[in-house]
Amino acid sequence: MQYLNVKKENEVIQITINREDKLNAMSLEVMNEFISVLDELEKDSSKVIIITGAGQKAFSAGADIEYMSKIGPTEAEKYALRGHEVLNKIEKLEKPVIAAINGYALGGGCELALSCDIRFASSNAQLGQPEVTLGICPGWGGTQRLLRIVGPARAKDLIFSGRRINAEEAMSMGLVNKVFSSENLISETKLYAKNVAKNSNFAVGISKMLVNRGMDTSLDTGLKLEIYSWAQCFATKEREERMSSFLHKK
Ligand code: CAA
Repeated sequence: MQYLNVKKENEVIQITINREDKLNAMSLEVMNEFISVLDELEKDSSKVIIITGAGQKAFSAGADIEYMSKIGPTEAEKYALRGHEVLNKIEKLEKPVIAAINGYALGGGCELALSCDIRFASSNAQLGQPEVTLGICPGWGGTQRLLRIVGPARAKDLIFSGRRINAEEAMSMGLVNKVFSSENLISETKLYAKNVAKNSNFAVGISKMLVNRGMDTSLDTGLKLEIYSWAQCFATKEREERMSSFLHKK
């Protein structure tokens, strides 16, 4: 891999976008590598994934503006489709994915973070959807996922103005879950990931699916899905073992 560093520490995988000289802007090559890595992660024994960017300055400054400056609608559609393919895979992965936002998360960089389940940010992080300043609308899910996470009024404010917000403001609108100092961001994210990894993989994965599906379905359908999923948990050996351990005070 040229643009992604993938490091495994026990059951936690850290993916680092490694294009520091371009503030980890996500070219087609970066997105293609994401597809290969995510295909592997679907099958392997990892339990929690962390995504971050190389260096101290950026998580990702978004889609590659140099490339976009040269393309027309046909290539743009392909680039958008690839972006959506990557972000949908992250969203559908039956394992939690945490964005460790270590600086700028702009445009496609912010959209990448939005497709993750949890967002932790460093105190110097800046998030935003500046696409309209470049003559385009958000193209990797920003209009839809931002809407669902922060609501229509805040999503429209960020998208129409293209303004950048700091970590504190992002947290106040529920866009990030927690803010850490730059020095502590990765260690705190790993600590959180290790704690999640101690829990039942199946139960966490199915909970992720339920929350995600719940955003796009009626309450009634969501509740029914929960009943069937809950019952499915009772078919696992792990559930038996975990409940028995509790009762035997292990
Ligand atoms: N694409 C390609 N290259 C980028 C880039 C991007 N998105 N963002 C930064 N770079 C490059 C710069 O061109 C520069 O390269 P050179 O050194 O070769 O000139 C290098 O990264 C460092 O960037 P700056 O010199 O600009 O760094 P800065 O500290 O002065 O500014 C910044 C930092 C405010 C993040 C600024 O780089 C910036 O505004 N970047 C663009 C952010 C943006 O608009 N992102 C949205 C892209 S559109 C999109 O993502 C569409 C979508 O919905 C999918």
